[in-house]
Amino acid sequence: MPEASPALRPLPVMPDPDPASACPSTNFAGSTADFLTCAASEDRVSREGMASGWDNSAEAWIAAMSDDGDWARTAVLDPVMLARATRNSPVQALDVGCGEGRFCRLLADAGIETTGVDPTRTLIEAARQRHETGRYYVGEAESLPFPDSSFHLVVSYLSLVDIERLAPAISEMTRVLAPGGHLLVANLASHNSAGQWLKDGSGKRLGYLIDHYLEERPVRQQWAGIDIINWHRPLATYMQEFLAYGLRLTFFDEPKPLAGEDPISGKFVRAPWFVVMEWRKDEAGSAGT
Ligand SMILES: C[S@@+](CC[C@H](N)C(=O)[O-])C[C@H]1O[C@@H](n2cnc3c(N)ncnc32)[C@H](O)[C@@H]1O
Repeated sequence: MPEASPALRPLPVMPDPDPASACPSTNFAGSTADFLTCAASEDRVSREGMASGWDNSAEAWIAAMSDDGDWARTAVLDPVMLARATRNSPVQALDVGCGEGRFCRLLADAGIETTGVDPTRTLIEAARQRHETGRYYVGEAESLPFPDSSFHLVVSYLSLVDIERLAPAISEMTRVLAPGGHLLVANLASHNSAGQWLKDGSGKRLGYLIDHYLEERPVRQQWAGIDIINWHRPLATYMQEFLAYGLRLTFFDEPKPLAGEDPISGKFVRAPWFVVMEWRKDEAGSAGT
């Protein structure tokens, strides 16, 4: 049975942070160290976006996503993410690391009042252009600009692996979630972020090689003009953080591509790829359902 959404206070209108405080641009064609230089900056907002490469990759990302999203989203993640997101009839939702706002638009189409937040200004501007009645803010997961208990549903759709400081991000997502609400997460599988395909001389995929699995570390990712840093962490790191904030796991999946849809000869079913988790913030003193 879907659970009734608790009543929430109206959200205040938040100004964007001052763009003049942005960390200087970095040439991300350089080394991983170049990416991380900006992380030492005192500036809170630009620190995450710039250090991760997202500011310089935003235009390529928008092109790669088009309006509808890439194959991984439409054929693998959207079916399960939409089913879970709508299941408990949330009224107010927050998408943390919303990018150019595609999943916010899907939630809005499903009748959910959705707010998007992302530190990458170009992506937020694209989200606003594509959804003029939507609410989109420049901000980072580690310091969400919303009051406690503001949302029935908080979504992180392939953004946790992009966030450098996991504990404050999960703390903040939990804080803004109303008691009885759900935190819905799609993430790159830890067994994926620790590895890479092993190929022979002709490019044939021989298997997926995982190494240094238990070592948390930045991993540079480059494709289609996108050049970013992901943060590899073992699965236990994620699970222990969610548990530390009192959340209770209500759903877990490693979704498969829709039948017959895998465009690259089984690549996406041969190795770990995505995980989907749903965590419930129980009412104080209640075991929940
Ligand atoms: C792989 S994209 C996913 C975007 C969108 N959720 C989607 O699925 O298309 C990762 C997003 O995380 C955002 N991001 C990076 N650091 C972040 C942070 N500290 N807090 C919130 N979002 C962050 C990036 O700007 C980027 O939009």
